[in-house]
Amino acid sequence: MIILGIETSCDETSAALLEIKQGKFKLLANVVSSSEELQAKYGGIVPEVAAREQMKCMIPVLQETLGDNYKDSIDAIAVTVGPGLATSLQVGIDTAKSIAYLWQKPIVPVNHLEGHLYSPLLESNEILFPAIGLIVSGGHTELILLNNFLDYKLLGRTRDDAAGEAFDKVAKLLGLGYPGGPIISKLANKGNNKAYNFPRGMIDSPDYDFSFSGIKTAVLYAVKDNPELKSKENLPGVVASFQQAVVDVLVSKSKKAIQEYDVKTLLVGGGVAANPLLRKELEQTCKTLQTNCLISPLDNTGDNAAMIALAGYYRYQNKNFIKPDPQTKSWQTITAQPNLRLV
Ligand code: KG4
Ligand code: ZN
Repeated sequence: MIILGIETSCDETSAALLEIKQGKFKLLANVVSSSEELQAKYGGIVPEVAAREQMKCMIPVLQETLGDNYKDSIDAIAVTVGPGLATSLQVGIDTAKSIAYLWQKPIVPVNHLEGHLYSPLLESNEILFPAIGLIVSGGHTELILLNNFLDYKLLGRTRDDAAGEAFDKVAKLLGLGYPGGPIISKLANKGNNKAYNFPRGMIDSPDYDFSFSGIKTAVLYAVKDNPELKSKENLPGVVASFQQAVVDVLVSKSKKAIQEYDVKTLLVGGGVAANPLLRKELEQTCKTLQTNCLISPLDNTGDNAAMIALAGYYRYQNKNFIKPDPQTKSWQTITAQPNLRLV
């Protein structure tokens, strides 16, 4: 079967075609258009700017994804319904609903976090359960236990900032630009990760919750007390030490969960999964624990529709789709859910 995925939850506009044959995935197209450069001018995402850009980009992105050939071969349309920015989500949802209605195809509402969670399977779907899922994005940091596909137990989540948010805020306060993650991880390569000792929030707490606002504040005060830290010579050490502190917490909690639940697979997805240090340390940890480590392919760590099509496939198999009949109540439920939770 072939699933058309649509994703517009934040500042990306994306569409993808995923073919599923005998349980194997083949990505036929994955087009992502980002308003990142525009958002960078404002130092972060302005929802109105994001949605306006998405309205402009949606049709060209679909045209590029679909070409001339695919209308008849598409079996279902998967679309992100939340969590995310309400106006952005609505652009993708209305597009998906229009296509579903015109083409008379079922529509599969997808949770954005479920997309991130399963994104590693775009490369290898050799997943053994039970598994631990680590979702690390700009808006979320969650550790989830999976006993099977779609069968979740929340182990912990951030109590304040998400990991990606911490990267973005620290980059902003250091005057480095937006988005912070890629800028910091590049600059950190040149720095000493032991130059400064930033706090590892909640690393020893008995639960699986996270807290990243303390480390951001620690960087803020360190720089206020000593403006020299913002100099060209000192910055790499500051960001390398910050990055190490965030990675230490993520790796430590993941390791604890793998051991406690004796899991066979670790799944890692979300924008922060692009971080080379995090990838390396999680892979090493899994090797030591003899756990299969599946991290999202680098092309699919950030927001993209391929992961939405993929999560949509599991939802479709579970019969979580809605037939395109606007008269039904279930059709009305396909609407933006900005605060939608996975568990
Ligand atoms: O998953 P995503 O594209 O959007 C959300 O759903 O939030 O994640 C974006 C986040 C941003 O906070 C960005 O700074 C972070 O992912 N990010 C990184 C890296 N690349 C992107 N964080 C750390 N290291 C990176 N290399
Ligand atoms: Zn995301």
